[in-house]
Amino acid sequence: MSALSPLPRLWLAPMAGYSDTAMRALCHRMGAEASVSEMISAKAVVYRDKKTVPLGRITPPEGPVLLQLFGKEPSVMAEAAALLAGGYCGSVPAGLDINMGCPVPKIAGNGEGSALLRDPELCYRIVAAVRAALPKELPLSVKLRLGWTREELTVLRVAEAVTAAGASFLFVHGRTRAEMYAGKADWETIAAVAAAVPVPVIGNGDVGDAATALRRLSESGCHGLMIGRGAVGNPFLFREIAAALRGECAPPPTREERIETALAHLRAAIADKGEGIAVRESRKQIAAYTRGMTGAAAIRGAVNAATTYAEVAALLSPLTEAP
Ligand SMILES: Cc1cc2nc3c(=O)[nH]c(=O)nc-3n(C[C@H](O)[C@H](O)[C@H](O)COP(=O)(O)O)c2cc1C
Repeated sequence: MSALSPLPRLWLAPMAGYSDTAMRALCHRMGAEASVSEMISAKAVVYRDKKTVPLGRITPPEGPVLLQLFGKEPSVMAEAAALLAGGYCGSVPAGLDINMGCPVPKIAGNGEGSALLRDPELCYRIVAAVRAALPKELPLSVKLRLGWTREELTVLRVAEAVTAAGASFLFVHGRTRAEMYAGKADWETIAAVAAAVPVPVIGNGDVGDAATALRRLSESGCHGLMIGRGAVGNPFLFREIAAALRGECAPPPTREERIETALAHLRAAIADKGEGIAVRESRKQIAAYTRGMTGAAAIRGAVNAATTYAEVAALLSPLTEAP
């Protein structure tokens, strides 16, 4: 039986620069049933660029993880997918995901990510080629935005094309490429996709609390939810939503728990990437963990200048005692 059977309902979103091994393991411990890796360039995998290997490394505490590929050439995507599925990065993923949503100019300007939404026929060919290159039982998902612009809302056509090509399930973020992250996610269009395709849809966009999670699930007809920014500095959100799905109520994190979790997160990142890189990369996460806490603003500059775990711990620890 696949690690994704039954298909998880609560997912941590792929977030380049955030959803690494340390964050995925922490969110899984809190209640995220599964996650998707940061995006990995298919071309880089095929060219055996060693820098991509850490992006695809998965450790047991993370639970099921899909590795996400971006690219636009069906044959390159297929070759990269076969390599990743075969354990090229040191571990075999629970499945593969194809990025058809990234809006950043470096990717979309190159015809990749969200630019694919303008060409449903190419989307079909990419998914068909990747599907054919993977073991039959390995799940293959696609992560979509709604289209290039509001005037070019192609998600239904693309969703139908990629499911016809063999996608096992879909993630749908309720924004167009032009919207980037502005405005509110359009859950009505997500619901329309969920109603139209024969595979499960996981809805994504702006879920930041348990009440919203329950409402989105019941109103959209989605099989599950994917959460990104809401979990940055707040992995407790998964505990709250998982409890709500069971009809229970989880306690909000205490000040001590927030600081302890921020430090545990940093220790896990250090174990994975080394102290120098992990401390530098942790700044934005620590800012999120401590947002709104008394004394947090006053230490931000010092945290941003810190280069060791000991310095960060010494700065954060007093926050647990602030009134
Ligand atoms: C910093 C950042 C990095 C992201 N990186 C990726 C990525 O690598 N692949 C992807 O499919 N989506 C990526 N996304 C989009 C998220 O997966 C998600 O679709 C989006 O943030 C909306 O969900 P949210 O409102 O829960 O954050 C990224 C988003 C952010 C904010």
